[in-house]
Formats: sequence, C-alpha cells, structure tokens
Amino acid sequence: MKQVINVTGLGYIGLPTALMLAAKGNNVVGTDCNKELIEKLEAGTIPFSEAGMERLFFDAKKCGIIFEEENVKAQIYIVAVPTPYEKQQKKIDPSYVVNAVKSILTVCPQKAIIAIESTVAPGTIDRFVRPLMRERSDVCLAHVPERIIPGSMIWELQNNSRTIGADDKDTANRLKEVYQSFCRGEIVLTDIKTAEMTKVVENTYRDINIAYANELTKIARRAGLDVYEMIRIANKHPRVNILSPGPGVGGHCISVDPWFLVGDYPGLANIILAARKINDSMPEFVLKRVSEIAEQHEIESLGRVGFYGLTYKENVDDVRESPTLQLISFMKKHMAIGAHFYDPFVKEQIVKGQMFDLDEFLKLSDMVVIMVGHDEIVKEQEKLKGKIVYDTRHVLSDTDAYHL
Ligand SMILES: NC(=O)c1ccc[n+]([C@@H]2O[C@H](COP(=O)([O-])OP(=O)(O)OC[C@H]3O[C@@H](n4cnc5c(N)ncnc54)[C@H](O)[C@@H]3O)[C@@H](O)[C@H]2O)c1
Repeated sequence: MKQVINVTGLGYIGLPTALMLAAKGNNVVGTDCNKELIEKLEAGTIPFSEAGMERLFFDAKKCGIIFEEENVKAQIYIVAVPTPYEKQQKKIDPSYVVNAVKSILTVCPQKAIIAIESTVAPGTIDRFVRPLMRERSDVCLAHVPERIIPGSMIWELQNNSRTIGADDKDTANRLKEVYQSFCRGEIVLTDIKTAEMTKVVENTYRDINIAYANELTKIARRAGLDVYEMIRIANKHPRVNILSPGPGVGGHCISVDPWFLVGDYPGLANIILAARKINDSMPEFVLKRVSEIAEQHEIESLGRVGFYGLTYKENVDDVRESPTLQLISFMKKHMAIGAHFYDPFVKEQIVKGQMFDLDEFLKLSDMVVIMVGHDEIVKEQEKLKGKIVYDTRHVLSDTDAYHL
C-alpha cells in the first residue's frame, strides 16, 4: 500500500507543501488544530492569496488530499507549525513543535519519520524534541528547513534546493524520495544540527547584507549622495551584490532568526547583533525623515500624512514584524498619533487609523509615505500627482519623490 504523508500545520508553509505533495500523486492528509481552517479547506476556500494556489488546490483535491483536525497514522510526518520567538528574551518558543510531535507520537506506527520543517534555533531538536522520543526509539527524526518566499512559493517549492538533516542515511534517503516527487532542485543530505544552523545562517546573511545597505543609506544622507546610485554602480563589480535599503526588515524569518545566534552565542555574534540593531533602527529613521519633510512643507499634523502598506513585503498579506507596525510602535512611544494607513492586502482592521479604500486614503493625505511597494501603487502612481511623496522603497518613477 502507498505510504501516507501527514502534514501538520497548514499555514503559509504547510498548506502549499501538502497540496504540492498530493498533486504529485502522494497519499496526503493535512492536519491543523484550527477547526475553522479545516472547515474552510474542506469547503474549498483557500485561506491566503498566493500565485498558483488555486490551480494547486484544485489538483490536490482531485488527487484526494484529506484535511483533518487530528493527526493520523502515517509513515511520514511533516511538521510546519509556528516557531514564534519571545521578544524580550530573543529566544525561540518551541512549544508548538513540541505539542505537534507529542500528538504525532500518540498515533504514529513503528519506524515512522517525523520531519520538522519549522524554522528552529540551532540545537532546538536535541534540546526539546529528542527527549520526547525516549520511549519511541524506533521513530526517526529529521529537519527539513524551508526557504520559500511568499509571492513565489509554488515556483520555489519546485525549484529551490532543499536540505535534509537526519540521524541516518536510511531516513535521509526515504525523505529524499518524498521531496523528489515535487522538488527539481538539488537535495542536500546532512545531519540535523547542521540543517538547523544552515537555515538560520542563510537568513542572517540576508539580514547583514540589508543592514549594510541601510547603513550606507545613512552615510549617503550625511554625505549628500544618492544611495541607490551608489549601490547600482557598486553592484557592477563582478563580486559585489549589495541588497536594497528599506524602511526596516520584517517577516517571520530574516528579522527573527539572527536573534537565535545572538541569544545563543553572546560575545561571538557581533556583526549579527550590529546588523539587527541597524535594521531595527530604520522605522525610527523613516519617522524622523517624515517629520523633517512634513516640516519643510508646512504640514503641521500627522492627520494629513498617510502611510501606504502594512505588510512586511510587497504583494503579500503577511504583516508579521512589518516595518510599518514597528514604526507605529515608535509613534505611540512619542505620542505621534493621527496618521492613517492603507494596505490593499490587509482587509481587517489591525491598526488605528486604517482605511480600506485607496482613493479615500489619498483624499486625506497631503503627504504619502510608501512603506511597501505593492504592484497596486506602482500601477496607480498617477493618483499621487500633486502630493508630497516619500518613497522608502524606491519603486515609483516620480523624480520629485523623496527617498530614504
Ligand atoms: N511563512 C514563511 O514565509 C516561512 C518561510 C520559511 C520558513 N517558515 C517557518 O515555517 C514554520 C511555519 O510558518 P508558517 O508561516 O506556515 O506559520 P502559520 O502560522 O502560517 O501556520 C502554522 C499553522 O500551524 C497550525 N498549528 C499550530 N500548532 C499545531 C498543532 N499542534 N497541530 C496542528 N496544527 C498546528 C496553526 O493553526 C497554523 O494554521 C515556522 O517555523 C516558520 O518560521 C516560514
């Protein structure tokens, strides 16, 4: 009989993975403890927008994917539950992974594999997951970190290289076969600790590179130079690739994972800590520029300033750790209230002053701060004519717009 794959946690990562596995002919059960989500999925509703998801969902349904609230008996378990971090202590909260594994252990048969896709701080599996398996030494553990990016998830699922960290070759090869059913990228086999560390190291690399661009922004401002022109020219060097500066770093990965290294290796993770501080300083830097520009144009109240974009990147609906939310918390600290906000992807009220219609939002804004470069505003940039525009993402063609 064909093996069953039980994907646990059907969020941004687990759902496309489960659908992809099913669409490629695997026997898949998707499990999520959120009853409402399971009902939605059973009714054919996709919980978030992502290019190619509708087609994939249709294919997976046709191939017989099942959605359940509880874990089921399976040969392979893929765990993609959240791994939030505790902001004060900068430490990972492994409780979701621990609970998911505990629940899997109550139903899993002999020699099942539990592959954790959730991003974890290096050492988490040894510290928190392995002790749960003392009574079940027959069950095999693995870590298969995920690299896909919202907005391009389906393509990247099939084309990115994957890392499989496992305790033994047999487990690694059994998993490799599963991932090869949809992944055309290179699949690299290693041990669990190296897989954990590599994932965090990759995100930290990007954080440091962005911090460099952000630091250059501040230097360029002092020197009276255009940072974008500087980076454009520097990147002509065949071995230089500086990323783009921006109003801050958000999302659940790049702004979080470096803290795991800072927390676990104090005194050693020095560049990493400096980069985090630089990137975390950007929302406040933007806020200061907003008041300078507003003052220059005699805009006296934040009530005439509109911030476009609440998500952490363009064309997605994910607002976790977003620069705009970071900026709002600085505003609150300085009692700078009254501004309004708009994001075409955020349909529910999440902040005070949020509006849901672009034209209404623009009507109220003498000054518009572009915090996210959604395609919508790039296409509709004509509507910004006559406004003072501060484009922190450098996405508009308006040559009069202020930049970082
Ligand atoms: N979102 C990304 O772009 C991205 C990229 C790479 C890696 N990751 C990592 O992948 C993991 C999952 O992230 P996500 O964005 O998909 O999270 P998410 O919050 O979108 O989804 C997680 C899902 O897990 C469910 N869940 C929680 N505990 C459960 C349990 N015990 N049993 C069953 N279901 C449970 C939740 O109800 C939720 O639907 C995280 O560790 C994250 O760091 C995310």
